[in-house]
Amino acid sequence: MTIAITGSASGIGAATAAALSAAGHDIIGIDLRDADVRADLADPASRAAAIEKVTERCGGTLDGAVLCAGVGPHTPDPLRLIDINYHAAVAVLDGLLPVLCKAESPAVVVVSSVASVQVTWAENPLATDPTPADLTAALRPAGDYAGHLAYAWSKNALTVAVRRRAADWGAAGVRLNTVAPGTVDTPLLRAGLDDPRYGDLIRGFTAPIARTAEPAEIASLTTYLLGPQAGYIHGAQFVIDGGVDAATRPTMF
Ligand code: NAI
Repeated sequence: MTIAITGSASGIGAATAAALSAAGHDIIGIDLRDADVRADLADPASRAAAIEKVTERCGGTLDGAVLCAGVGPHTPDPLRLIDINYHAAVAVLDGLLPVLCKAESPAVVVVSSVASVQVTWAENPLATDPTPADLTAALRPAGDYAGHLAYAWSKNALTVAVRRRAADWGAAGVRLNTVAPGTVDTPLLRAGLDDPRYGDLIRGFTAPIARTAEPAEIASLTTYLLGPQAGYIHGAQFVIDGGVDAATRPTMF
């Protein structure tokens, strides 16, 4: 199978590329650097060129895609965070659909986050396609934690976008699911730990399985979801968080 992976240069994307490559698949890595296709996916022109290059490299037929590219709550500009984690991810998803449709049993995994369930769609301003000024105003009350709020909104909106595609994509024969990790030991998490606003919060957040995940553990779930044994799994979100969601919201699922 030929599989495109965004965010392939680091963390979960790199571990996913390694796992899928070890399983014999051809990988097309897409990232800002150190990738087969170098692109800033938040930039519309760069993103369009990346989709074009992926289309060329896969010969017009793509068997799978894993969307990992993203940034963490510590990112200085929360609006850029929303652009990368939500708008760009959805645009890449839709941009790859034509080549995915040509494959025999295509599947896609989008990396959301357990933060996606920390806010509801009803309270998420991204539900109403806000202007940058609206978003800035909505983030203001969060003060130093605007990045975390923007992150939760972006991942909530990303999971909603995937679920909203389940009907059409299923009819087109393309399986589409999200994984929602808790804390995973990657450069993104380490940057959060080094940030004075977020470091203690993250350290104080202990999962029932009292450790952070290894990127390879997320890659292993993703590998399963892309494969034939997951043939009836579609439109689902898989939390992989050491039990945090169950422990904090046992009655909500
Ligand atoms: P990471 O920082 O190790 O890797 C992210 C990759 O995305 C980097 O290689 C980066 O260059 C790339 N990227 C960022 N912006 C981009 C852009 N505009 N265009 C192209 N590539 C871009 O981070 P990690 O932890 O591997 O994160 C992967 C995904 O997993 C992200 O979507 C993140 O939100 C999500 N996630 C991570 C968690 C964690 O604890 N590490 C927990 C839950 C979700």
